[in-house]
Amino acid sequence: MTATDPVTVMKQEVGKAAAALVKSGTIVGLGTGSTTAYAIEYIGDRLKSGEIKDIVGIPTSFQAEVLAKKYGIPLTTLDAVEHIDIAIDGADEVDPQKNLIKGGGAAHTREKVVDSLANQFVVVVDSGKLVDKLGSSFLLPVEVIPMALAPVMRAIEKLGGKPELRMGVKKAGPVVTDQGNLVIDVKFDFIDNPAELEKTLNNIPGVLENGLFVGVADIVLVGEVKDGQPTVRQM
Ligand code: 5RP
Repeated sequence: MTATDPVTVMKQEVGKAAAALVKSGTIVGLGTGSTTAYAIEYIGDRLKSGEIKDIVGIPTSFQAEVLAKKYGIPLTTLDAVEHIDIAIDGADEVDPQKNLIKGGGAAHTREKVVDSLANQFVVVVDSGKLVDKLGSSFLLPVEVIPMALAPVMRAIEKLGGKPELRMGVKKAGPVVTDQGNLVIDVKFDFIDNPAELEKTLNNIPGVLENGLFVGVADIVLVGEVKDGQPTVRQM
């Protein structure tokens, strides 16, 4: 069915553009989220039609794994391969230096492992994700092991952040990540130095990973609607 909602159309087009970058015989990091879901679908379409062959995917989440299986993309693990050629993943915010906030789907820990290992990391977003400064509109996700929740929250408050435990939707209680951990979403009034904050947060005992991706993205594809027409531009 053809989508009419402009945001969905932008996501589809940008997903298609990213899928077109995948070449035969490559190892592909498969990101998480609604935009990457279209990229995974289109990679599957290209495999099915014979346009590309011999692809293996490395999923960044249970969601990506389920979608890859649905669309016929063979999967492997980081134990079995020594490199990743290209990773395609979404983002919640992108700044002008191509730094990102990720983790809207609570998958940022595995996403950072896979996306950082890729020779080419392609980010797929709609234009609503572009910001002048990270943290302007999206809270920063921090994955924390359950027994360390209280001390990590206190440590984040001391850094000037306002932490809140992410709660489930249509599930009583908190969101539990694919690794069995919790996610704290943090409001920082200003993220002036994302590289420093990324390290400071990861240095708190009990923090597994935070959603700041600094200097990781190679290409950012932005979906836009101009004069009623969906377009994709490279940032
Ligand atoms: C998941 C992520 C997603 O890539 C991010 O939330 C963007 O998702 P969407 O494309 O659905 O807006 O980081 O942890």
